Amino acid sequence: MTVDNDKKKYLITSALPYANGPLHFGHLAGVYLPADTFTRHHKLLGHNVLHISGSDEHGVAIMLNAQREKRPYKEYVDSWHQEHKELFDQFNVHFDYFGQTSADYHTKEVIPWFTSLYDKGLIEPRDSQQLQCKSCTNHLPDRFVKGTCYSCDYKDARGDECPNCGIIIDSVKLKNPICQICESTDISEVTVTQYYLLLSKYHNEFQTYLNSKKDVWRKTVFPFVQSLIKDGLHDRAITRDLDWGIDVPLNTPEAKGKKLYVWFDAPIGYVSNTKQLFMESGRDKTEDYIKDWWGNEDTEIVHFIGKDNIIFHCIIFPCMSMASELINPGTDVPSNQYLNLEGKQFSKSAGWYVDAKEALDQFGSDALRYYLFSILPDFSDSSFTWEGFQTRVNGELANNVGNLVSRCLKFWNKNWSDGLEAKSFDNFFNSKLKSHFENSTKEIHHYLNDKNIKKALESLMALSQTVNTYFSDLAPWAQIKTDENAAKETIGVTAIQILILGILFEPFLPELSKNIIKLYGDQVSDEIKSDVYKANYSSLKELFSNTVKLVAEPKVLVPKIDKASIAKFQESLRAKTQ
Ligand code: 2FM
Ligand code: ZN
Repeated sequence: MTVDNDKKKYLITSALPYANGPLHFGHLAGVYLPADTFTRHHKLLGHNVLHISGSDEHGVAIMLNAQREKRPYKEYVDSWHQEHKELFDQFNVHFDYFGQTSADYHTKEVIPWFTSLYDKGLIEPRDSQQLQCKSCTNHLPDRFVKGTCYSCDYKDARGDECPNCGIIIDSVKLKNPICQICESTDISEVTVTQYYLLLSKYHNEFQTYLNSKKDVWRKTVFPFVQSLIKDGLHDRAITRDLDWGIDVPLNTPEAKGKKLYVWFDAPIGYVSNTKQLFMESGRDKTEDYIKDWWGNEDTEIVHFIGKDNIIFHCIIFPCMSMASELINPGTDVPSNQYLNLEGKQFSKSAGWYVDAKEALDQFGSDALRYYLFSILPDFSDSSFTWEGFQTRVNGELANNVGNLVSRCLKFWNKNWSDGLEAKSFDNFFNSKLKSHFENSTKEIHHYLNDKNIKKALESLMALSQTVNTYFSDLAPWAQIKTDENAAKETIGVTAIQILILGILFEPFLPELSKNIIKLYGDQVSDEIKSDVYKANYSSLKELFSNTVKLVAEPKVLVPKIDKASIAKFQESLRAKTQ
C-alpha cells in the first residue's frame, strides 16, 4: 500500500483492557464504543487512521486471579484475550490491531524505553518502605493490599490508587490495610529496593506540555491533571518483586528477580502493537511506525480512556515519551466518566453486572450501541437501566429510524417493484432538503471531530426526525389515490434521505447502516458512500439519474424490545445480589 502523505494521520488508541475478567457495558461506553465511532468517522473522511489496542496482561491483579484459579499465567491471559476479542467483534468494535502485552514483540519494544530513560539518568534504584503480610509473608505492592484511603476515607482503596478520589496511593500510608492474598490485617512495613522513574526531574518540561493542553483537553481532564501536579511531579517505583511480567533489563544485583511495573509497560503496548501490525501486514516496507506515525508531528495521537487512567495517560506516559525521545506525547485524551448499572457501580464480585455477551445475543449490537451512546458518560457519570434501554430503543431508534425505513421502502416495493424513474428523485437535489442535509452533516462532523459522540448521534437522530416529518406530512398513502406521480416523488425523495441517513449511521451503528444500504444494492459503491458521508452528493445524483429498483424487501431493521426480555435481565440482576 502506498501512503498518501497529504492525508491527515490519526493514531487512535483504546485503553488496553486487563486480560482479567469480563468486560461490561461501562468499559464499552467509557472507551471502546466512542473510540470505534471516532475511528470510523475519520476513515469515512478518507483520513489515514489506525485504531490500536490489545490486552494488558501483566500486573498483580492478574497474578492473583490466575493463582486463585490455579492456572498458568499465560494460559489465563490468553483465554481472556480471546474472550475480549470475540466480544469486540460482536459489538462491531473494530481495531486495526489488538495485540497482547505478554507477547515477545512487546517485550522487545519495552526494553529500549527503559534503557533510554536509565541512560539519561531518569531511572535509579532506591530503598523504600513497603508493606509485608506477617501471616502469609508476601510483600504487598499495589493491589495485593487494600485499605482506607488517607485522602478521602473511601474504605475500599487499593494499594496503587483510590478508585473514589483518583489519587495515586502510597500503600504504606493506607489506613487499616488488609492483605489481599490471605485477608490478614497483621501487616508491617519493610524496606525494599526498587527502580524509580525520576519524574520530579522532569517537572518543567511536563509543565510546558501541560500548558499546551489547556484548550485541548476536556474540562473534566485538564483541571484534574493540574491539581494532581500542584505539588510537583513525584518519583515513582517502576519495578516490582513478582514472577510474572517483563524482566528489568539490567545486569545489576538490584535488578535480579525484578519485573517492570505493569503501568510502565502497558501504554508502550500502543506502540508495540502498531509495530506488530506493520510487520504482519507488510506495511513496514513502506512506512515506519515511529518516523511516520508515533514520532510524526502531523499525527494526532488520541487516547480514549476511562477517568481512572488519567494519571497514566496525561502525566506518566507523556513524560516517558518525551524524556525517552522515542515518540511524541498524546495530542488529546478524551477521558470519560463512569457508567453505573441501575444507579450502582458495576461489580462482578458483588454480582452487580450484566453479561455483555448474553445481552448482545438477545438484543443485537445496534440496540445496545444505540442506548450506550445515548447515555455515554462523557462529561458526567451516567447509569444504564433496563427500562431506559427499552424506552429509548423502542421510542427513538425503532420509531424514528426503523419504522421510517420500513414504511417508506415497503410502500415503494409494494407499488413500484420495477423501480422508480429519475424524476421521482430529482427534487431532493433541487430543494432545500439538500442544504438541510449538508448543514446537518456539518454539525454531526463538528461534534464527532470534538469527540462529542453523544451530541453527534443526537444531531443525526434529529435529522432522521425531519425525514419522518417530511414523509408523514406528504402522506404518500393518500397521495397515491389522486396523484401517483406526487406519491412517487415523496417515496423517491424520502428514499434518498434514508440512504443518506444509512450512510451517516455507519460510525455509530455499523450493522444498521449496512442493512439499510444493502437494500439499494451493490450500486452504492464505497466511493458513493464516502462522497455522501462528506455531504458531496454528485455521485449520488448520478446514481439516481436512472431508474432505481430496491433489491430486497426491507425486513424489521430495529426489533422492538419487549417487556419480557428485559424482565429476564432485571430478574437475573436481582437474583445475583440476593
Ligand atoms: O485500567 C485498565 O483497564 C488498564 N488495563 C488500562 C491500560 S491502558 C494502557 F495504558 F495500556
Ligand atoms: Zn497475607
